[in-house]
Amino acid sequence: MHNNYIKNTILNRPTTFTNGEQASTYTANKIAELIRQKQKEGKPAVLGLATGNTPKLVYKELIRLHREEDLSFHNVVSFNLDEYYPIGTDHHLSYTYFMAEQLFNHVDIKKQNVHVPHSDFSQDRIAQFCIEYEQKIACFGGLDIQLLGIGRNGHIGFNEPGSDFDSKTRLVNLHPLTREDAAPEFGELHDVPHQAISIGIHTIMQAKNILLLALGERKSEIMSKALHGEITNQVPASILQTMPHVEYVLDNEAARLI
Ligand code: GLP
Repeated sequence: MHNNYIKNTILNRPTTFTNGEQASTYTANKIAELIRQKQKEGKPAVLGLATGNTPKLVYKELIRLHREEDLSFHNVVSFNLDEYYPIGTDHHLSYTYFMAEQLFNHVDIKKQNVHVPHSDFSQDRIAQFCIEYEQKIACFGGLDIQLLGIGRNGHIGFNEPGSDFDSKTRLVNLHPLTREDAAPEFGELHDVPHQAISIGIHTIMQAKNILLLALGERKSEIMSKALHGEITNQVPASILQTMPHVEYVLDNEAARLI
């Protein structure tokens, strides 16, 4: 695929750390700085949050900062990237459950400020839900910071290979590799949902700052493609190469091929 995208090869150098703990602490501090800065300005801090194994230590560090260093979440408004479809919000593998367990139950965020795509309703209501999700993000002035992980196929959120770069929140079909990677958690492949609701690539790109965190050897190959490969929607994260406000935070293992 030929395209006219301009890469930001100088700006998009990754910040690398010896291990995942250091990378996560760095990432948590970036988020905490933003929250505190917005508090000084008397404004909300609008966070785009991610699920998966990768951000777990970031959330753990944010909880520590809340408990031990007075970091308050009273001004935080959060929007999560995605959710399986269909899945009940009280299902232990739903992202609503994940976020409550990993972060929200342990900090002073206001319940009404938490947004995770809901997916326990019928297909005919999804389009409207997605429009409203986008409107709510816009209502708060857009995302101040978007935290991202990356799938082994280059997905960001659940924007799978082939997703349009101008996509917005919508129902998506999960890629076979994504389902395969989720199978151990669900018990078996058969139980992994085939679809999800995901905010779009356009929505992500509109965030004022983006932090992409990648940890471990299993992300090294895709990080090399995402950072230095062709900009193509077959590797959704590759579009971030064009953007000046993206920081890639990697541990040495994920950065091995870079
Ligand atoms: C899921 C999530 C993504 C996440 C990815 C990577 O598919 N929807 O937002 O980045 O998994 O997961 P992990 O961090 O567990 O490798």
